[in-house]
Amino acid sequence: MFAPHGGSLVNRLLQGAQRDALLKKAAGLPAFTLNSREASDLEMIAVGAMSPLMGFMNQADYEGVVSNMRLANGTLWPLPVMLATKPGDDGSKWKVGSEIALKHEDGTILGVMKLESNWKPNKQKELTECFKGDEKHPAWDYLNSVGDCYLGGPIEVANLPQYDKFNERRLTPAQTRAAFAEKGWKTISAFQTRNPIHRAHEYLTKVALEQTDGLLLHPLMGDTKSDDVPSDVRMECYVALLSKYYPLDRTMLAVYPQAMRYGGPREAVLHAICRQNYGCTHIIIGRDHAGAGSYYGTFDAQQIFDGLKPNDLNIQTMRFEHSFWCKLSGSMATTKSSPATPEQRIFLSGTKVREMLASGIRPPDEFTRPEVADILIAAYAGQSKVGV
Ligand code: ADX
Repeated sequence: MFAPHGGSLVNRLLQGAQRDALLKKAAGLPAFTLNSREASDLEMIAVGAMSPLMGFMNQADYEGVVSNMRLANGTLWPLPVMLATKPGDDGSKWKVGSEIALKHEDGTILGVMKLESNWKPNKQKELTECFKGDEKHPAWDYLNSVGDCYLGGPIEVANLPQYDKFNERRLTPAQTRAAFAEKGWKTISAFQTRNPIHRAHEYLTKVALEQTDGLLLHPLMGDTKSDDVPSDVRMECYVALLSKYYPLDRTMLAVYPQAMRYGGPREAVLHAICRQNYGCTHIIIGRDHAGAGSYYGTFDAQQIFDGLKPNDLNIQTMRFEHSFWCKLSGSMATTKSSPATPEQRIFLSGTKVREMLASGIRPPDEFTRPEVADILIAAYAGQSKVGV
């Protein structure tokens, strides 16, 4: 197992008397309510998943990240993790040097931020540098939904956001690291996904299981686009699939609380850094990882790792070509292992599968396991708009 990014696991979650004192102090401070992405980020920072970040980015870190993918001290960091004012709030009431109570949308006090900087970002630059995006990119929807001033500084957290589901699977980096050590796993592959696991995903994870001691199936459970499959439907699919088709003594399923940015290559680096923090030694990066529309080249999210400096990151990428069901060999394959012509490959686009599910048509077994198809068909029948 490697050390966390930046050297040590950050812990901003206070306990006991320190926590009590923080809550008492927060009660007397001006309060700022986080949106759900910001609450996910607070959780990630507090438990060390985003080590070495100790809070929401200040201006120097933010500008370094946008321009060079580096924090002000030179540490690799690919995407902003920022707190934005609400629309219409120009930020002038939040004074640098003061403290702010951070609240959940449900009213709970989460913690306190010491305001280090307060600035007006160049959102257009953030969109183009970080996301290669335009006004149709999902990142622009988000940037447009928040105010025009960012607030940054270290946080101390008294309460993590509370959830009514999957709590037994919300493992912190300290917990996954301890679990890997207990199982005796020295090499661990992380699988990031925001989708149900179809046969192509399964193939990548099975190849990873051949190469490393264990697999951390680590589905992203923070906010996703509205046409992505909801997290509870996905979790049902993961559990059904794992319990039948995976060696449970070599596989772990845990929640990854981040909100999806659809940042393609830069987000792949973020996913890798955070999985190193969770104790993984490898991360699977396939085709169009964390992609959106056609903003990124199919393998950009793999190639970006080739441009990093040798000491930037310890976790290794496990890279895959496009995977599909090969009719020629009657098995899963990739373009690297099969000479099949395009007509001999079964691969369905997300749009095609959505259309099939909407019409109550079961996607073929070569695309998705029947247990997963059953869950998706049932979910689709109950909702008008579920993505795949
Ligand atoms: S992502 O946004 O989390 O990347 P998704 O859940 O679809 O989306 O993908 C999870 C991982 O599987 C990513 O690394 C992605 O590149 C990879 N992947 C998905 N489908 C394929 C495929 N058919 N062939 C190769 N890699 C794939």
